[in-house]
Amino acid sequence: METLAGKIALITGASRGVGQQIAVGLAGYGCDIIVHARKAENTAHTLAMLRPMGVRVYSVAGELSDDVEIAALIDAVQAGPGRVDILYNNAAIQNPWKEIWDIPMADWRTTFQINLFAMIQLCNAFAPGMKARGYGRIVNLTSGIRDTPQLAPYSVSKAAVDKYTRDLAAELRGTNVLVNTLDPGWLKTDLGGPNAPGEVESVLPGALVPALLEDDGPSGQFYAAQDYAQ
Ligand SMILES: NC(=O)c1ccc[n+]([C@@H]2O[C@H](COP(=O)([O-])OP(=O)(O)OC[C@H]3O[C@@H](n4cnc5c(N)ncnc54)[C@H](OP(=O)(O)O)[C@@H]3O)[C@@H](O)[C@H]2O)c1
Repeated sequence: METLAGKIALITGASRGVGQQIAVGLAGYGCDIIVHARKAENTAHTLAMLRPMGVRVYSVAGELSDDVEIAALIDAVQAGPGRVDILYNNAAIQNPWKEIWDIPMADWRTTFQINLFAMIQLCNAFAPGMKARGYGRIVNLTSGIRDTPQLAPYSVSKAAVDKYTRDLAAELRGTNVLVNTLDPGWLKTDLGGPNAPGEVESVLPGALVPALLEDDGPSGQFYAAQDYAQ
């Protein structure tokens, strides 16, 4: 697909890191952008990057560990831009590093709430509208992390994201709402840390591939952004 003009994308966690790159990348295809972060003020830098790009830009805020804030975020999208055509469930946290035996259940719960349950709530809010309009692209951020038991809540939540994405894709088969996972690669961001081998910019153009799929293209598939690194 050569253009996303006329489409509206919501990218959670677009104040920095991978989400910011995705927002700018989509805007480069003419897509209108809804930038999300925990607090509205956190989106200022991304908004400043997007405004000269000639697309409509919106900002919504919401702490994804809090169901009330998730509901308010959904209401703000519906009251403002009014719909979502492309949803990047990008925001996520890593649990604090601890021996697997010592990880408090609270860390497991918070990680699952932000990385999985918030994603489900956003898909529930926006996928039915996509289905009714006969167009949607949902991209759920996953991770290639493995053999790191100290981060098990993070990695297990991403395994659940993978399974959930395939279930949602099955539900939406034949609707032109395509639901896929994206692994950005290990990148130098606040989450990835300074020892990551990749620069955050290397997530483009690969991160856009599942948003640019032609109608009735692949769904329930895994995309690795680094496969497309230039
Ligand atoms: N970086 C890597 O190496 C790597 C590798 C594999 C997968 N990933 C995945 O890529 C995605 C983006 O990661 P990243 O490295 O770009 O992360 P990041 O730099 O830490 O950015 C996280 C983003 O998520 C938002 N966020 C964090 N906690 C939130 C919460 N509780 N409620 C709402 N928003 C919240 C942040 O907003 P605020 O600015 O408001 O805090 C920020 O915009 C994640 O799904 C991650 O698992 C990253």
